[in-house]
Formats: sequence, structure tokens, C-alpha cells
Amino acid sequence: MTTLLTTHDISRIVAARGLPEVLRRLVAAIEADFRRWPEFDKSARVASHSANGVIELMPIADAAQYSFKYVNGHPGNTALGLSTVMAFGVLADVATGRPEMLSELTLTTAMRTAATSVMAAKLLARPGARTMALIGNGAQSEFQALAFHHLLGIRELRLFDTDPAATAKLLRHLRGVPGLQVQGCASIADAVRGADIVTTVTADKCNATIITPDMVEPGMHINGVGGDCPGKTELHPGVLLAASVFVEYEPQSRIEGDLQQMPADFAVTELWRVLTGLAAGRTWAGEVTVFDSVGFALEDFSALRLMRDMAHELGLGTPLALIPALADPKDLFAALVPAGTQLRAA
Ligand SMILES: NC(=O)c1ccc[n+]([C@@H]2O[C@H](COP(=O)([O-])OP(=O)(O)OC[C@H]3O[C@@H](n4cnc5c(N)ncnc54)[C@H](O)[C@@H]3O)[C@@H](O)[C@H]2O)c1
Repeated sequence: MTTLLTTHDISRIVAARGLPEVLRRLVAAIEADFRRWPEFDKSARVASHSANGVIELMPIADAAQYSFKYVNGHPGNTALGLSTVMAFGVLADVATGRPEMLSELTLTTAMRTAATSVMAAKLLARPGARTMALIGNGAQSEFQALAFHHLLGIRELRLFDTDPAATAKLLRHLRGVPGLQVQGCASIADAVRGADIVTTVTADKCNATIITPDMVEPGMHINGVGGDCPGKTELHPGVLLAASVFVEYEPQSRIEGDLQQMPADFAVTELWRVLTGLAAGRTWAGEVTVFDSVGFALEDFSALRLMRDMAHELGLGTPLALIPALADPKDLFAALVPAGTQLRAA
């Protein structure tokens, strides 16, 4: 049987282990898989674009396991009462092709995206970073805020969103988190001024300029999460020009990241090379660093395997008759028409 993990299973895992521990294990799992980067069969995701958004398939495999994620990005969805980003995915056995697990990935994507942001910031932000601006206060924002607080030591968050209700929601969720000071700001520039780290996680189907060169201060680390699709960016090209830019998987980031605005020979560094010591991360205190995040299939592969293991530890998950169980694998017909029953005439 294939195991089904629902949104309820994921929230039970978080209730049992605590969000900081789940995020910590996600960072460790993603880091471990990025360190063995050459072992993976990688490709840029397959995107189906339409007027309102995109639907994407994200496959990846190593010698033992294969995974894919289905994910959409529809910035106008919230006005219709739907999430901007919704996802599910499959983990399968490479040797036989058997789908081992079918899982929700909407909650899991928010956690793995925040974990990947932390993984990058550990390599790229100035040590001792304490203040973060968080621009875009929608569905992903709590996950980013709490991951940076618990795992990187951010103590002060400065928030801005064009929708004051989104900022009010984020303030409500973060109120009372010990050791975390949070304040809403009047503008992006106001939020960004003096921040060690700037996280942009907005959703708009356009070349937005959330961060402009005049806002960037020496030593800042910019975690650009929302620019992740052709024609959908957040950083002014001048911000990238003045920074050292780091990406997940370069062939995909050139198409989808803020990087899409730059010439094809604009230099970037893949994160796995920094993790494995093949390339430098931040080299001096005044350097401006950008993680041009778009979301790569390997992060979902790592997250699916971790959620499978945590569900197993807690006895969660439901057997799902996704593939027919056959006494004789050559007798598929028996699963459709059990022995002793007759096909009805039309
Ligand atoms: N890089 C990744 O791995 C990854 C993963 C998940 C989501 N994303 C992207 O992150 C973004 C946010 O996703 P979400 O699920 O939080 O979406 P959401 O729709 O729930 O929230 C987006 C927020 O951005 C705000 N916003 C839009 N334009 C703005 C602007 N100019 N200034 C300030 N705020 C603005 C909106 O008001 C909204 O509150 C999306 O673009 C999504 O595609 C990236």
C-alpha cells in the first residue's frame, strides 16, 4: 500500500515535535542532500503558464528514490479564497517504480522554503545578524519569521505588506514569541533601514521592484523568495549588480529567479558548492549577498523523506489503495472484476 500523509498528519508532527525541531531537522536534511549534489539526476521544473499563474512539476531522483511535486503559483488566488501556493507530491522507489508515499506539500513547502532560506543565510549572512525586514506578510511569512528566529537568532523583525490585514495577521501570530520583538513599518524603506537580513516574500505577477539599490546597506543579506517565475521578480537589477548572488540550481534560476533580468554570463554561485567548500560564501563584512531563491526539487525530496520518517516515528499516515494489490501481478483484471463476478453487458 502507498502511505498517505494529509495536512492533519503534518500538523500532528509539528504538534508532537514542535515547529523549531521540525525546522531544525529540515535544515539538516536539506543540507545533507545538497552536500551530495552530484548524486542527483536534476532538471529544471516543467512549468505550464497561464494568464493568472503557473502550474509546475518538480522531479528529481538519486539511485534509490524518486520524487516529484505538483505546485501552483497564482498571486490572485487569495481574493478568491484560495491559497497562492498549493502543493502535493510523491516519493517512489527507483528500483521498482512503486509509489511509496503520497503527501500534502502545501504546509511542507512553507517549512522547507524557510529551512532553505536559513541554510543559505547560515552561509551568507553576517555572523551575529539580529534584525530582519520581512516584506510580504502572507502565507509563507510566519514560517520565514520563526525559522530565522529559532535557527539563526533573529530577535527583531520589521514587517511591511501592501495589505495591512496581512501584517496584522502576522503580528497576531508572532505576538508573545519569547525573545522576538516585532513591529509593523510604514514602508518597505522603513522596514529595510538598518536590517541585517532582508526577506522578500511577496506575490505579484509582475517585475516588481520591492528592493531598490538605494535601500541596500553594506553587509546586508537579501533572501529573495518571491521572485520565482518568468516575469515575476522582486529585486531591482541594480541590487543584483552590487551583490554576490547565490542560487539553488543555476539552469532553473536563470529562467525563474530575479536573475532572469541579468545577462546570461552574470556570475552566480550554486549553494551546494559553498556547503561543500568548493566555493566561498560571504568573504567580508561589508559584502552584500543575495540568495535568489526559487525553490528546487531537491528541497522537496529531502522534506518528503523527513516527513515520511517523522510520520513513521509517530505512527501517522494512512494506507492508501493507490496501486492495485494483486495476488498475481499479471492478473490486473482481477482487481477490476473480482473472481466470480460477471461484467455486466452494456
Ligand atoms: N522560493 C520558493 O521556494 C518559494 C516557495 C513558496 C512560495 N514562494 C513565493 O513566495 C511568494 C509568497 O507566497 P505566499 O504563499 O506567502 O503568498 P500570499 O499571496 O499568501 O502572500 C503574498 C503577500 O505579498 C503581499 N504583496 C504583494 N505585493 C506586494 C508589494 N509590492 N509590497 C509588499 N507586499 C506585497 C500581498 O499583499 C500578500 O500579503 C509567492 O510569490 C510565491 O510564489 C517561493
